[in-house]
Amino acid sequence: MSGALRMTPEERREFARDLGGRLPDGFVLGTATSAFQIEGATHEGGRGQSVWDAFTSQPGRIVDGSTADRASDFYHRVEEDVQLLHDLGADSYRFSFAWPRLQPEGRGPLRREGVDFYERMLDRLDEAGIDTMATIFHWDTPNELAGGWMRRDTALRFGDLAFALGERFGERIGRWATVNEPATVTLNGYGLGVHAPGATRLFNALPAAHHQLLGHGLAVQALRAADVRGGIGIVNVHSPVVPATDSDADVAFAELFDVLHNRVFADPVLLGRYPEFPEGFEPLFSALGEADPADLALIGQKLDFYGLNYYLPTRIAAGSGGPATPDGSSTAMGSLPFHLAPWPEYRSTGFGWPIAPEYLGVALDELAERYGEALPPVFITENGASFPDARELDEHDGTPHVRDGARIDYLAGHLEAALSAVTGGGSASAIDLRGYYVWSLIDNFEWAAGYTQRFGLVHVDIEDFTRTPKDSYQWFRLLAESR
Ligand code: NOJ
Repeated sequence: MSGALRMTPEERREFARDLGGRLPDGFVLGTATSAFQIEGATHEGGRGQSVWDAFTSQPGRIVDGSTADRASDFYHRVEEDVQLLHDLGADSYRFSFAWPRLQPEGRGPLRREGVDFYERMLDRLDEAGIDTMATIFHWDTPNELAGGWMRRDTALRFGDLAFALGERFGERIGRWATVNEPATVTLNGYGLGVHAPGATRLFNALPAAHHQLLGHGLAVQALRAADVRGGIGIVNVHSPVVPATDSDADVAFAELFDVLHNRVFADPVLLGRYPEFPEGFEPLFSALGEADPADLALIGQKLDFYGLNYYLPTRIAAGSGGPATPDGSSTAMGSLPFHLAPWPEYRSTGFGWPIAPEYLGVALDELAERYGEALPPVFITENGASFPDARELDEHDGTPHVRDGARIDYLAGHLEAALSAVTGGGSASAIDLRGYYVWSLIDNFEWAAGYTQRFGLVHVDIEDFTRTPKDSYQWFRLLAESR
């Protein structure tokens, strides 16, 4: 049965005060965003084009037909948004550097206007006393790097970018995350075609996994060579996988999906080797099975932290059919011999994702069980939910507000689940959990869903970009100040 919370406004406030009092000393509370999703200004400052600019301009790719040309207009509203972070009481801001803003062609010296923009943002964050976690790759591969992550050369170019950023910003960044969710880029971008660059290679997408992991390894090496001050890690999304029934076929496909989505990306980083591929499916993974041991040594270098993104668990059933993706879009998934099964027993988010906080605990247990001593300190680098938030005016005094109690319940339930997993005496008790970042600070461009899914603590009007802190923002502020 679902452990999701459903509270009254007073219970929510009480929960924030109580939870704030129970957070371990030094536990980092932050919010996360990514460049492509918030910046806009895609034609300013000499920015080059990314595979996502190209993808959004193709008809039918984005559900509402939108682009990220203006996104949340962060590029022009840095001061306002840093002020929002400050007033929230956030300790840390996780953001990403836009690769095409810094290297419009994916190579060469860092572009002046791009560097200036991030310097200005970091100045504001410094003044506000907010620490940073910088993601180097959050999906905006420069278009000029033809073939993208299917080519090994992109990993080498990425290593160069990391070195240049490390040299330029090494003194200023609190923590570095090399790549964000390589699993999603591989599966959605190169396997199923729902994300840029829109390739439908199914299992033949796996070289894109290896090259992103190699890019991660080269970036770790480059950042160490640049002698950056901050710790270095990676951000992986984990979704515990369960079979829809205990039939042999469902169990086998669930194991296959767990390897494909979780282990292919975590094992080489934490253990220096690819996982064992499930019996009978080995040929599908040949691109990884034949990986050069020197690549694996780079990929498996020791990290200072491990970033975990958690949103939802996955239920797998044999046979094609069922909802193709969690948001119901149709993809190349229909040609696979298994499908994602629904979770009727859970309430769901705006995306239709099951609200299952207990599976964040399962994800942490799995991390501890699978990686044990090899696991460095962990940050939950993203967790959050989309809901159809409406901006309304108070009937008495006309002040704008957004009543997003469901988001508060989501965040409260997940924070509670994470804390109890790491203090509860189970496997996850071995984990040194250092912090939690809400996805996201502000509503933004949600990839293939365009502006139809709002994840922010702050509502953004898509016409005039007015910011309105939601009830969840006030709740998170109360949590932060209750420590
Ligand atoms: C994970 C991704 O890193 C982020 O870009 C995305 O917006 C969230 N998931 C929500 O789908």
